[in-house]
Amino acid sequence: MIVFVVLCLIVLVLFFNLSATKRRKPKSAKPIPGPDPWPIIGSLHLLGKYETPFEAFTVLSKIYGDIFSITMGSTPCVVVNNFNLIKEVLIAKGGDFGGRPDFMRFHKLFGGDRNNSLALCDWSVLQKTRRSIARTYCSPRFTSLQYDAVNLVGTNELTVFMTELQKLPLNEPTDIKPVILAACANMFMQYMCSTSFPYDDTDFMKVVRYFDEIFWEINQGYAVDFLPWLLPMYNKHMNKLSHWAGEIREFILARIVQDHVNTLDYQSPPRDFTDALLIHLQEDPNMEWNHIIFELEDFIGGHSAIGNLVMMALASVVRYPEVAKRIQEEVDDVTRGQRYVNLFDKAAMPYTEAVLWETLRKASSPIVPHVASTDTEIEGFPIKKGTMVFLNNYELNLSAEHWDEPDKFKPERFLSPAGNVVKPAHFIPFSTGKRTCIGQRLVQCFSFILLSTLLQNYNISPGSEIHIKPGCVAVTPDCFKLILKPRNTEPN
Ligand code: HEM
Repeated sequence: MIVFVVLCLIVLVLFFNLSATKRRKPKSAKPIPGPDPWPIIGSLHLLGKYETPFEAFTVLSKIYGDIFSITMGSTPCVVVNNFNLIKEVLIAKGGDFGGRPDFMRFHKLFGGDRNNSLALCDWSVLQKTRRSIARTYCSPRFTSLQYDAVNLVGTNELTVFMTELQKLPLNEPTDIKPVILAACANMFMQYMCSTSFPYDDTDFMKVVRYFDEIFWEINQGYAVDFLPWLLPMYNKHMNKLSHWAGEIREFILARIVQDHVNTLDYQSPPRDFTDALLIHLQEDPNMEWNHIIFELEDFIGGHSAIGNLVMMALASVVRYPEVAKRIQEEVDDVTRGQRYVNLFDKAAMPYTEAVLWETLRKASSPIVPHVASTDTEIEGFPIKKGTMVFLNNYELNLSAEHWDEPDKFKPERFLSPAGNVVKPAHFIPFSTGKRTCIGQRLVQCFSFILLSTLLQNYNISPGSEIHIKPGCVAVTPDCFKLILKPRNTEPN
């Protein structure tokens, strides 16, 4: 009997140990497959021949599988290529992957510390607070007062925007990006700071340009990001980044924040996002002046993303005249040529909305890489703290596995047979999970009214060669020209 009991105990102990080990240990102790790194550069040579590293990632995934490891310089990285793995990283284990890459360029752009930036900081309690202050203003719900405010600000700026466009030469190649960016900047500044600027204000236009330079810059990759010993060769470049950031800071303090500080009534509800930040600064002992100013700068800077998206949409619209025609039919139907478009017309203009989704799909802007903040695992493979994770949404957006004729620009793919906008679950241009884009609703609002208004008033054709970099939602600050030909259905 004693022997039997002892045997049972041994079996029980073994059983519990085994299942505990199973729970603790990753499913696979095997290393993640991937190319052998070269000394010093790691696998950077494999990316060099592609316009975007994401093209290389897709090619490598065909060799090594949906999850593979790659070394960039000496940084261990993992690339995940299918939707389930991307969800595992961003949603199921979002807390383990809350870090961001530690690139020197990012520090230079944000006053010497990338943790000042909302998009490039590691996850922290401060980040949680910053996101929650921003949510009301930057993610306005359809039925909220904030949404009405976005609509009002956007439509008011359209009048100024159209006046400025009319000053451009017509029927010949012209550079419309600065005007589109200025309109976006004013929509943001009016909405977030209750102020806007004339388009001939040289300091305003300079700052709009610097924001755009930074947006382009953030969307590029450089060898120095992974090979910091190249830094001395990039000194001039890094100083330029600090200069742009410094000039933006000066403008925002002098021309926006100072007036708010002088006139803020702490007993009244905030007039706008700037007030909300200043009030939070007074109420929250963990918040510092620098935190709120960087947050304001970050969100105002979001306007560049929208200006660039509108330029990207125009690049496709001018290539496919039938797309332009359908947008014009929608906008003419809704406005009867009597007024500008507003946000409440969106429901009746699904094709125009679909054009913007298709632009985002084709642009396939990368999700900012995440970094493991703790030892963890993906699909049972062990991942060490500090590993950088690339989420290959380029593959999700452009593979034949997910889309019919993925290379074609077909906005109707986002329309149901009944004509409503539908997006497949694997389409995540703004990412998902705890670090998902906070500005996505503003993107959908302002890009919609800008694109519709441009096509309502002009027939647009290419004015120079158009080259769009794959896997990037930014176009170069000095980009292609367009030809504007007025239509005869101008609203009053
Ligand atoms: C074409 C327009 C835009 C696209 C495609 C886009 C896409 C993205 C993506 C993919 C991320 C990364 C999410 C992740 O790492 O999981 C992100 C983060 C972010 N976006 Fe956007 N975005 C756009 C415009 C904007 C605008 C206009 C704003 C501000 C008003 C904004 C604010 C942010 C912020 C603050 C983050 C960082 C969130 C965090 O890391 O916690 N974005 N965006």
